[in-house]
Amino acid sequence: ESVDVSLVINGVTYERRLDTRTSLLDLLREELDLTGTKVGCNHGQCGACTVLMNGTRINSCLTLAAMADGARITTIEGVASAEGELHPMQAAFLEHDGFQCGYCTPGQIVSAIGCVKEGHATSEAEIREYMSGNLCRCGAYKGITEAIMEARE
Ligand code: FES
Repeated sequence: ESVDVSLVINGVTYERRLDTRTSLLDLLREELDLTGTKVGCNHGQCGACTVLMNGTRINSCLTLAAMADGARITTIEGVASAEGELHPMQAAFLEHDGFQCGYCTPGQIVSAIGCVKEGHATSEAEIREYMSGNLCRCGAYKGITEAIMEARE
């Protein structure tokens, strides 16, 4: 069965007819070539696929594209300014070495932006709790937390 979806991704409107079972993650990566959003576990456990939906953090692997019909989606490709200036969170990750291999970084940065936006960056403990769904196999957690502490201001 197929479904028509229309969504605004990083300010651009996309309309597609999709299989009803298509995840938002597969729509982004396979249909739209927005491959900045990564696939890790595909089961809601690693956070590599994190995007913002109407300003709220979600796992795009657990979200059907049809559920995002009409929504505003922000992916890592959409966080820098149109002129290419880094988002303050991106700059803070660079400054504090908030990554090593970089695979989890798009999800970490989008999640970190959600953390601040949703008002969950009031303390280091709260940041760690909020970010606990974003796994980093290199263990860059210290730099990630420091980056968020800096960028929240
Ligand atoms: Fe979605 Fe791991 S790929 S949480």
